[in-house]
Amino acid sequence: MHEFYSDTQTRPTRAMREAALNVTLGDERHNEDPSTNELCARVAEMLGMEAAVFLPSGTMCNEIAIAVHTRPGDEVICTRESHIIFAESGGPAALSGVMMCPIDTDRGMLTPNQVTEYVRPASAHAPRSRLLLAEQTANLAGGAVWPLEQLNATVDAAKSAGLSTHLDGARLLNAQVATGIAAAEYARGFDSAWIAFTKGLGCPVGAVLAGSHDFISEAWLLKRRWGGAMRQTGVLTAMCLYALDHHIDRLADDHALAQFIGVRLCELETISNILPIDTNIVIADLAPDGPDAREVAKQLKRKNVTITVVGPRRIRIVTHMDVDEADADALVAAMATVI
Ligand SMILES: Cc1ncc(COP(=O)(O)O)c(C=O)c1O
Repeated sequence: MHEFYSDTQTRPTRAMREAALNVTLGDERHNEDPSTNELCARVAEMLGMEAAVFLPSGTMCNEIAIAVHTRPGDEVICTRESHIIFAESGGPAALSGVMMCPIDTDRGMLTPNQVTEYVRPASAHAPRSRLLLAEQTANLAGGAVWPLEQLNATVDAAKSAGLSTHLDGARLLNAQVATGIAAAEYARGFDSAWIAFTKGLGCPVGAVLAGSHDFISEAWLLKRRWGGAMRQTGVLTAMCLYALDHHIDRLADDHALAQFIGVRLCELETISNILPIDTNIVIADLAPDGPDAREVAKQLKRKNVTITVVGPRRIRIVTHMDVDEADADALVAAMATVI
């Protein structure tokens, strides 16, 4: 298969698996797993936060953060195409009882003015605006990187309005590699932030959520309550530590491959538009007189190429460590045969 469905489709490399073989293990539920403790300390430092907790998935990071920052009936401000809205199974409503305030944006990025405009005045009739969520990079906007100034200013606007702030950093390290701006700079001002290990970093499991000591101790309570506390997680976190040491810089290769694909797809008649490519995600719109996105995905699958359908006429292609130029050639060749 030529897997362009998502950067979650990577398999751990042999070297990564070997890193897990000789690791000393302990019970993470009692903070006794050495690799897990080391990973949490490293990620907290990378994000400029006091503490961190290892969790099974990015979704759990987002859902725990929302639950810690809000009370039922509160409202959460975010972009309309946030992962939290379209792909977390209604978690904010089911788990935290909050309302979402989805805002239309240019390339998945809010502005300070939008935050000010959408924060509701205190009133017994209205929900309480309580939390700002930001996604760096913005997935459905094509892995778009919020400029640092705009991100900081948006967080400042939320803080001035009394909101808590949370950063979904599923692909924050892609932003770091694309711009040379450290993850901690992007996370500055946020009350909580996380990074994923199962995407560009190539691990099979895991994400780390960071924040203040108080925030993390509340997050730990929900991690236990929701069944996310584990035992000898060193077999997982040794792979995450390996990824921090060996797989961050290589994200630049994924970005270059995405550019290569973008240029090649532009030449096809079936493609009408490609969103700007900042990192490892290519979002392409299909020409109005051709097949729709579902049909294209179906035809590509028959040629062993996977992509994601993200709109009636919009597809997403994601590059990662398990695809290379030969896979990109197969993708473009398959796209050229779509009828
Ligand atoms: C922007 C964003 N946030 C959150 C997640 C959820 O991460 P996980 O798949 O680890 O639950 C994803 C997954 O692709 C994502 O793209």
